[in-house]
Amino acid sequence: MKQLLYMIIFSCLLPFNLQAQKIIIGTKAFAIVYQRDVEGHLQQIYLGKKLSDTAGYRNINTALSPAYATGGSTYLNEPALAVKHADGNMSLVLDYVSSKTSNENNNIVNTEIDLKDPQYPFFVTLHYRAYQTQNIIETWTSIRHTEKSDVILNRYASAFINITSQQNYLTHFYGEYNYEMQMHKFQLAPGIFSIQSKLGVRTACNYNPSFMVSPNNDVTENTGEVFAGTLAYSGNFDIQFESLQKNVDMGNSLKIIPGINAYASSYALKPKENFETPHFIFTYTTNGEGQVSRNFHNWAINYGIWNGHQKRQTLLNNWEATYFTFNQDTLVNLFDGAKKLGVDMFLLDDGWFANKYPRDNSRAGLGDWDANKKKLPDGIGYLVKQATAKGLNFGIWIEPEMVNPKSELYEKHPDWVLKAPNRPEHLYRTQLVLDLTNPVVQDFVFGVIDKLMKESPNISYMKWDCNRSIDNAYSPYLGKDQDVMYVRYTQGFYKVLDRVRAKYPNLDMMLCASGGGRVEYGALKYFQEFWPSDNTYPMDRIKIQWGYSYFYPALAICAHVTAAGSESLKYKLDVAMSCKLGFDIMVKKMSERDIALSHTVTDNYRRLQNVINYGDLYRLVSPYKTNFASLMYVDSTKKKAVVFAYNLESIEADTYPELKMNGLDPNKKYRITEINLNSGAKVTFTENGQIFSGETLMEQGLKWYLKWARTSSVLELEAI
Ligand code: DGJ
Repeated sequence: MKQLLYMIIFSCLLPFNLQAQKIIIGTKAFAIVYQRDVEGHLQQIYLGKKLSDTAGYRNINTALSPAYATGGSTYLNEPALAVKHADGNMSLVLDYVSSKTSNENNNIVNTEIDLKDPQYPFFVTLHYRAYQTQNIIETWTSIRHTEKSDVILNRYASAFINITSQQNYLTHFYGEYNYEMQMHKFQLAPGIFSIQSKLGVRTACNYNPSFMVSPNNDVTENTGEVFAGTLAYSGNFDIQFESLQKNVDMGNSLKIIPGINAYASSYALKPKENFETPHFIFTYTTNGEGQVSRNFHNWAINYGIWNGHQKRQTLLNNWEATYFTFNQDTLVNLFDGAKKLGVDMFLLDDGWFANKYPRDNSRAGLGDWDANKKKLPDGIGYLVKQATAKGLNFGIWIEPEMVNPKSELYEKHPDWVLKAPNRPEHLYRTQLVLDLTNPVVQDFVFGVIDKLMKESPNISYMKWDCNRSIDNAYSPYLGKDQDVMYVRYTQGFYKVLDRVRAKYPNLDMMLCASGGGRVEYGALKYFQEFWPSDNTYPMDRIKIQWGYSYFYPALAICAHVTAAGSESLKYKLDVAMSCKLGFDIMVKKMSERDIALSHTVTDNYRRLQNVINYGDLYRLVSPYKTNFASLMYVDSTKKKAVVFAYNLESIEADTYPELKMNGLDPNKKYRITEINLNSGAKVTFTENGQIFSGETLMEQGLKWYLKWARTSSVLELEAI
């Protein structure tokens, strides 16, 4: 308390130029503002709507709000950075040194703030990239020193965000294999809550590193204050929320501390080495959760994912259709199936490789990346040629970071595997993780992709899978330096991907980890799209896709029509079409009528792909709140829109939700047409073909027309 009083009294006495030293990091709509305090430390003095009068940004906080809290000195709550100096001192103080801002282009403003310990040659730089149009700020920290020997980083967060509010509601996304991205919202209690991973790889399996915080519970899609962030990191992460209430120094405030999980990961930073934390990407809005999503989608398409503007390929995958049982002829026959559906590509999944220990199930062959001669006597090149001859692109599945003990790779290189000495080998899906901290293993993993591409340059797509986490963690390569194992693994993963992208920029890649176990922006920087879940039951998929939609754009969310679920094919098609459409189905078991409907939907998807992939998303009816769901995409000109609606009831219901559209131009007139219908089928939408103004559609809405259980429809809106 004393400290706070002291600061307030002295800041009033300070000369104007020192008080005026504000660092404003802003986008078009919001800003985060820092100012040096009387003791020379940097404080966050504002986070909120951008003010036109910058003089309005002033420190009226009753809470201490350090820009980047350090441990071992006077800040006694959870810090962002905690170190042990070379001389053993555990305290860290960071004084403000300088800052600079520069425009990278019309849209991006970069700011760097340098901080330094007054007593030690220990330096920190806070970096910010402010994307003006997207209303997104990306922040990260670099840490270095010139002390006599290593400084141990015991905690090294990417950022430290202060939210000043009496209460806070947190929405985060938990999950498990087959149940990814389930939304959960609750009021934060005093104390520390954390979403984190210790899985090593596949780290988004149980919690996605994304969240939203609101001061009120009644925030909606269109209204209310929301701060939302996501950590771009593929290794162990930890996002802490320290909620302080009636705290003498901290008042009522929430500290958000996103970063690498320091669990088993103290990092020995060498003199002059620069440690860069993962990037934390955040937004703030007073226009509700829908705006959060549109900000992230816009940012992701333009900056966050690989080749965001490249048109996505519709595809037929053979995994759920054949599993491991196929040969050259059955695959070539499947190409005909792909043609019948009208898709762009055939994707060959697991099971195509290994000879000494053939990959006929998940127990053998992983690591031996030569085509299996029995199944594919003419190799991958032949399949690519056949597909190309039929006017299809060809994609292939790999899982290059993993190995089955029953493989030639393991026989040759038992020391390339992460596994603790003196512990029994612990298999999961009968496999182990390769030691990506080892540069030779990185070469091998890069070589898997490189060899396939050199032998068959026409491969247009790879599905990169990852089907286990790291346990009994020990790298034979790192020997005594196991503390850095988790960090080095992730760095090794990125090094391989950097090489892949430098050499194969036009190769489409799908990010998969037993489904959505790796969905985050650290990895998505290298991938066009991801496989969100092995659960393709349409009822579950509606909720899973809904969860992803908060942070990830539709064009990145692969959605395949499969045999799973007893719903009609139309229902499955309508669910899949709302993201990135694909199929994983035995076409030869489908009726001509079903094939024709699938082809129609594929054609509709292609025709409306620009709206669904690049339009603005509006969530209309939540499956988390009702037994119905609806969402729509509106293109940037507001001339075209597509509405998806699903009834999730198991019997006919008596009450129905409101269906008010959003994002349309109130002054335009829209013709509404129901699409995705079997030829000759009756339309479900009772006002089909009618014309309404945007205003009517948004203010009064449509009468809910999907009365029958498990029915769905897709409406196309066109301004006339
Ligand atoms: C897990 C993936 O999620 C599936 O789609 C499939 O590729 C299998 N691995 C193959 O082993």
